[in-house]
Amino acid sequence: MGSLKTILDLYKEKHNSEPLLIRSPGRVNIIGEHTDYNLGSVLPAAINKYIFIAIGKRIDDEINIYAADYTDSYSGTLSSLEKAWKLWPNYILGVINEIKKDGKNLSGVNIVFGGDIPLAVGLSSSAAITCAAAFALNQLFALGYSKLELAKIGQMSEHNFVGVNCGLMDQYVSLFGKEGHLLKLNCRTNEHQYIPYPENNIEIVLFDSNVKHHLVSSAYNERREECQKGLDLVKAQVPGVTALPDITEEMLNKYVKPVDEIAYKRCLYVIQEIDRLEKVCKDLESEDFEALGQRLFETHNGLQNLFEVSCDECDFLVETVKQDLNVLGARMMGGGFGGCTINLIYKEAVEQVTEKLRNEYKAKFNKDLKVYTATIGNGTEEVKI
Ligand code: GLA
Repeated sequence: MGSLKTILDLYKEKHNSEPLLIRSPGRVNIIGEHTDYNLGSVLPAAINKYIFIAIGKRIDDEINIYAADYTDSYSGTLSSLEKAWKLWPNYILGVINEIKKDGKNLSGVNIVFGGDIPLAVGLSSSAAITCAAAFALNQLFALGYSKLELAKIGQMSEHNFVGVNCGLMDQYVSLFGKEGHLLKLNCRTNEHQYIPYPENNIEIVLFDSNVKHHLVSSAYNERREECQKGLDLVKAQVPGVTALPDITEEMLNKYVKPVDEIAYKRCLYVIQEIDRLEKVCKDLESEDFEALGQRLFETHNGLQNLFEVSCDECDFLVETVKQDLNVLGARMMGGGFGGCTINLIYKEAVEQVTEKLRNEYKAKFNKDLKVYTATIGNGTEEVKI
């Protein structure tokens, strides 16, 4: 896994010049899953795991990218920019494409990137790459985009070049994250507030199921459509409703349940999750981590049974720790169909909980459990060494 120094050294070796260096974080999400594209709120935080990009201008219009973690490279030109046949270059090419579409003037670039965010496990390595690229190009070519505009460029790059119709949460928190704080983002207004995350004896631990979320793009887009269907059914009946946060359980029972059971379940989960998030904000104010933890279990239950984006492995990881008093709360995190569970565990018990779970997981699925701890760090920024 590439460290900042490795990325810098590789760049210098390949291009014999000093690059601009940008560091962009992955994220955890405490609560508010699949609420972003439904215009509810989310409560993520940037973490101390990063993608590093080293970038420099070229005088011609070539785009050269080297992915240190894949030991693989891509080469193309700005004038004939199109999707690559392999996935990884598209995160960066998609960003260049959005900026080009916006009529900005770019030249060719040399890029070397890599990092220490585990890839494709639900920690938003993809948003970290797109945000790092957007931030870097903005700075290198003095494009004048705001952070919100950069987040949207990252999001549209995923829609148009990667094929995931994601919400804005991951890109937003990757750019706006702040050490020691959760970020409460209202996805309807795109405004945020920072919520202090109290210093305490609880660790944020991620258990990686080692199930890669391959299904994610098609099933994710499908969930989005199902939510939209439910919304449209209510909209047709109730004036003034424009998004799921406007909808009550009564409306769902009356207008959606009899017509479309699937859309009903998806929307029910979302409106319950929007409500839970507000309660978690109150729990944080009163530093009641036990209540907060219980809500994480409730979210998992909704993701498993109503939204149906979990998998057997993640269900097992959550069920198993539920019985352990050292674990305050746990749930699957991110888009779903694999990836990580997020767990709040008393610090002194982390090792013991982990060891036990590791053995049980191996015995049950014959898969190795990977474990990461996260601390809350800053959003995308320029770094120097
Ligand atoms: C992925 C998407 C986000 C969000 C989550 C689910 O991480 O990129 O926009 O929808 O899934 O909460």
